[in-house]
Amino acid sequence: MSRERIRALVESNPGQASEAEYTLVYDVLMERAPCNLLVFGVGRDSSLWMDANDGGRTVFVEDVRRWADYAREHVEGITVIDVRYWTLRIMWHVLRFVPSVLYMRSLPTHVLEAEWDVILVDAPRGTRWYRRGRMMSIYTASVLAKRSRGIVFVHDCHRFTEAECSDAFLGADHMAREVETMRCYAFG
Ligand SMILES: C[S@@+](CC[C@H](N)C(=O)[O-])C[C@H]1O[C@@H](n2cnc3c(N)ncnc32)[C@H](O)[C@@H]1O
Repeated sequence: MSRERIRALVESNPGQASEAEYTLVYDVLMERAPCNLLVFGVGRDSSLWMDANDGGRTVFVEDVRRWADYAREHVEGITVIDVRYWTLRIMWHVLRFVPSVLYMRSLPTHVLEAEWDVILVDAPRGTRWYRRGRMMSIYTASVLAKRSRGIVFVHDCHRFTEAECSDAFLGADHMAREVETMRCYAFG
């Protein structure tokens, strides 16, 4: 059933994660659920993660109002935290030297103090140099996952910034799996 659901999602959601990438995340969630799951970025896959972590705690972080509203409208019981990212992808060359400024201190205490078992980073958008890029979400995920000995997935690591940023903050030594453009870093 889950395989069919993932296949249907990929067909109806072109340009996002592939079947193999979703399956990597889904299978790890199935091993850990019910757990604490933090997801950077909502979309048509949000209900998949909610259902995969049935009985656990799932929180989404989103910067685009239209997509946050979409998720709240379409996914029953979803928790979406509205955030603002102040970076541009092009700033990575400088920001890499001052990572602590990337920590998302404005997230609610219940997010910053929770023990996250699994964190999925699939936002904000980073397709162009003037997009926000994922420096803030990846850095914040690294701090939270190291503390909780969790797992971090980063999508779109075919892009230079995501790949470099992940290696810098999550550590190439911690990369446990890589399927297409989805990387998995483990701190357990
Ligand atoms: C890579 S997309 C996240 C896609 C989502 N994880 C999915 O697979 O449906 C990053 C950001 O783009 C926006 N977004 C979500 N779904 C989108 C879609 N199908 N097409 C374009 N942008 C999307 C949201 O603001 C999201 O945080």
